[in-house]
Amino acid sequence: MPADIKKISKEELAEQNKYSQMVNELISKRYSGKPLACVVTYGCQQNIADSERIKGMLEAMGYGFTEDRLEAKLIIFNTCAVREHAEDRVFGNVGALKSYKLDNPDVVIALCGCMMQQQHIADKIKQSFPFVDLVFGTHVVYKVPQLIYTALTRKKRVFELPDVDGVIAEGIPVKRDNDKKAWLPIMYGCNNFCSYCIVPYVRGRERSREVNDVVAEFKQLVDEGYREITLLGQNVNSYGKDLEPRVSFSQLLRILNDLEGDFRIRFMTSHPKDCTKELIETMAQCDKVATHLHLPFQSGNDRVLKAMNRSYTREKYLSLINYAKELMGDELSITSDIIVGFPGETYEEFCDTLSLVEEIKATSLFTFIYSPRVGTPAAEMDDPVPYEEKSKWMRELLALQERISGEQMALHRGKTFKCFVYGKGKQGDNYLAARTDGNLIIEFVGDERLIGSFQKIKVTEPLTYVMLGELERKEK
Ligand code: 5AD
Ligand code: SF4
Repeated sequence: MPADIKKISKEELAEQNKYSQMVNELISKRYSGKPLACVVTYGCQQNIADSERIKGMLEAMGYGFTEDRLEAKLIIFNTCAVREHAEDRVFGNVGALKSYKLDNPDVVIALCGCMMQQQHIADKIKQSFPFVDLVFGTHVVYKVPQLIYTALTRKKRVFELPDVDGVIAEGIPVKRDNDKKAWLPIMYGCNNFCSYCIVPYVRGRERSREVNDVVAEFKQLVDEGYREITLLGQNVNSYGKDLEPRVSFSQLLRILNDLEGDFRIRFMTSHPKDCTKELIETMAQCDKVATHLHLPFQSGNDRVLKAMNRSYTREKYLSLINYAKELMGDELSITSDIIVGFPGETYEEFCDTLSLVEEIKATSLFTFIYSPRVGTPAAEMDDPVPYEEKSKWMRELLALQERISGEQMALHRGKTFKCFVYGKGKQGDNYLAARTDGNLIIEFVGDERLIGSFQKIKVTEPLTYVMLGELERKEK
């Protein structure tokens, strides 16, 4: 692990447990019954995973939970900085709490997550949102008990935003949002500095959790009945490069795949520059690893890719996809992220993105209009194309992918997929809903007792966003 990345010691965690008890005593004196906390999460799965840890700590402190901000005694916004739109929503939603806080001065309003890790945002909160009591960054989530205790007992506002390369904290309690599907962070941070992206500045350097810690949490999840476990990292392909001894992501997948139990492993996000043939072979060989590859290409044009500092070419990307298709055939599902209207991108260059979309035939795409982020190199580049024009390009991209998704869905008629039955369906009373490896939804008529199991389901009728199917045979 790099020298300036710190694993939080047992003593520091024990210190937090003391604060947790102190909060517990304090709130049980202050309130009759459990005070409620409302944790609002924006952005990616990493943030969802962080919020699940925040909620775990709050539960240990004695808080109950509510979705309704206006009945909460503690409101936490876990924010996202990846695009301006996400930031605007946070400002709007925090602003809307002003009168609630004025009427209820005992309520604690807290902001955390990537947005707060930017100096100009923290300054804005300091100046323009005086009713926000507590602001903390991405590297001190493990200190939530101490921070809440301070916010409850001190009259001053609390800003805890250390700018460090990163920490790893093990053993934090987790309150998960779902009882069958779990997020499992295997690494934190990013070293890639794509020229448009704020993440490396707000999440610090790449750091991997120890294999033993990942395996222990994974086993615990399987024992608790979780069936779909998604390994998380900004760039999971570089997992383990900082560990001693070095471990590759493929090795980790194989270790997890060999564990006892009936489960499916997913992972995201992969970076094409670090995605290896070995990883693709591992996916193809490990029966519990979903044959779903989320491999963002961002642009199909080599000049734009270079300006984005992505470190791969269109050709290299295509060779990975083609290799994955060769090994996994029809089983493979590809998804990707795309940025439309990177500074200086021309329409001709954007057309290379369209042609790549045409070529790879993704199941679905996550598409974003470029959003300038303060402090990133791209924010300094000339950006002559107006937003309306970029929106037009975006519509063209969406129409293309809609056609491709439709064609892909139609090809599935008659095919059988191994699916995880996750709940009741929406097509009718006796329908159940199941998810394929590639995250497609199939609804079928079945007994409710199948919920929570893996089943083989044959597609009978592909509709637009969902497919209808029938149970092929019951798996043991
Ligand atoms: N503008 C638009 N999209 C962005 N992304 C990251 N930064 C930006 C930005 N500044 C997108 C990328 C990334 C996804 C998580 O968000 O496509 O893969
Ligand atoms: Fe951002 Fe690039 Fe890191 Fe992904 S790999 S988080 S896009 S810098």
